[in-house]
Amino acid sequence: MIKLIGIEKTYDSPSGKVHALKGIDLNIARGEIYGIIGLSGAGKSTLVRCINMLERPTAGKVIVDGQDMTTLTESQLREARKSIGMIFQHFNLLSSATVYDNIAFPLKLYGMNANDIGKKVRPLLELVGLSDKAQQYPSQLSGGQKQRVGIARALASDPKILLCDEATSALDPQTTKSILDLIKVINQNLSLTVVVITHEMQVIKQLCDKVAVISEGVIAERGSVLDVFTNPRHAITKEFISVLLSNELPAAFRGNEISQDRTPGSLLLLRLIFLGERADDPVLAKMIRTCNGVECTMLFGNLDEIHGVPFGRFIIGLSGEDSAINSALNFLGGQDVRVEVIGYVRRNSAAVE
Ligand SMILES: Nc1ncnc2c1ncn2[C@@H]1O[C@H](COP(=O)(O)OP(=O)(O)OP(=O)(O)O)[C@@H](O)[C@H]1O
Ligand SMILES: [Mg+2]
Repeated sequence: MIKLIGIEKTYDSPSGKVHALKGIDLNIARGEIYGIIGLSGAGKSTLVRCINMLERPTAGKVIVDGQDMTTLTESQLREARKSIGMIFQHFNLLSSATVYDNIAFPLKLYGMNANDIGKKVRPLLELVGLSDKAQQYPSQLSGGQKQRVGIARALASDPKILLCDEATSALDPQTTKSILDLIKVINQNLSLTVVVITHEMQVIKQLCDKVAVISEGVIAERGSVLDVFTNPRHAITKEFISVLLSNELPAAFRGNEISQDRTPGSLLLLRLIFLGERADDPVLAKMIRTCNGVECTMLFGNLDEIHGVPFGRFIIGLSGEDSAINSALNFLGGQDVRVEVIGYVRRNSAAVE
């Protein structure tokens, strides 16, 4: 549905050239919710604005629904943009117009008559849950309600694509969730392709099917949200995910040297990741039964779900004879669980109670 090929964008600024996008290739399938996450200045807004040509790429092709946007004339572009709706962090509503008129605004621009506008706007008000607010002004609405108006306005021209640039960044977590739920409903009911720009991994986790991590104008990593969450490769991805998932060692071990060699009195710490059906498999109980003499201490555990797929993360500490520990590692290696060896760590004596 959206294909970006070798997108480059260079801005001229008073302090010199800024190379905001450095060769972006991206494929977004029809009906997909695709997230793009990156730090401030990474190039996210520039990238999303290249899709509807609010920014013209310096080089590369932008193919939307089979059409190369970079070759269109201004009037062809205006037509093509009708199929791409956009919502913004600060809503960009007309403060002097009512909710109804804000949603009607693009339709008036297209020259639609008042009767047809009414037929279009009323179901949209209902869809976003604002039928009772039609005659209010943006200043009388909460942030979440304003974004609902933004969404209804973006949908007024029956777009095939919805671009969301930090659409929930100005909202509290609960309101964010309700807006993300609404975007999901719209994606499913209207078969809309959605591109979500954010700096919050929580948004990606709640909403997106796929994700690309952008850093300094290049895509550092991409894949299904489940893959990227359970097996992040790039340091920047790990950083984003660590906000949601505690990657820290339990307090009793923090600050202690981690060694790959066994030292007396230390535990071998492992991080285990279980996915899908396996998440509730009694793997550890089997390990203890099978591997004579190994002791297992549970230090951290978290069960989560990504798109309905259970996802468990645990940190365990193994102790016992070398042979017992080796046999436990062998056992785990043969199970459907990802094992990361953290290393041998001693417990802080102060933390032992
Ligand atoms: N109109 C412009 N003129 C000059 N430089 C620009 C312009 N727009 C963006 N840039 C620069 O391009 C780079 C990418 O900016 P962009 O706005 O795409 O980042 P972003 O990832 O959306 O950041 P944020 O999370 O803060 O919104 C930055 O270095 C920015 O300063
Ligand atoms: Mg931005």
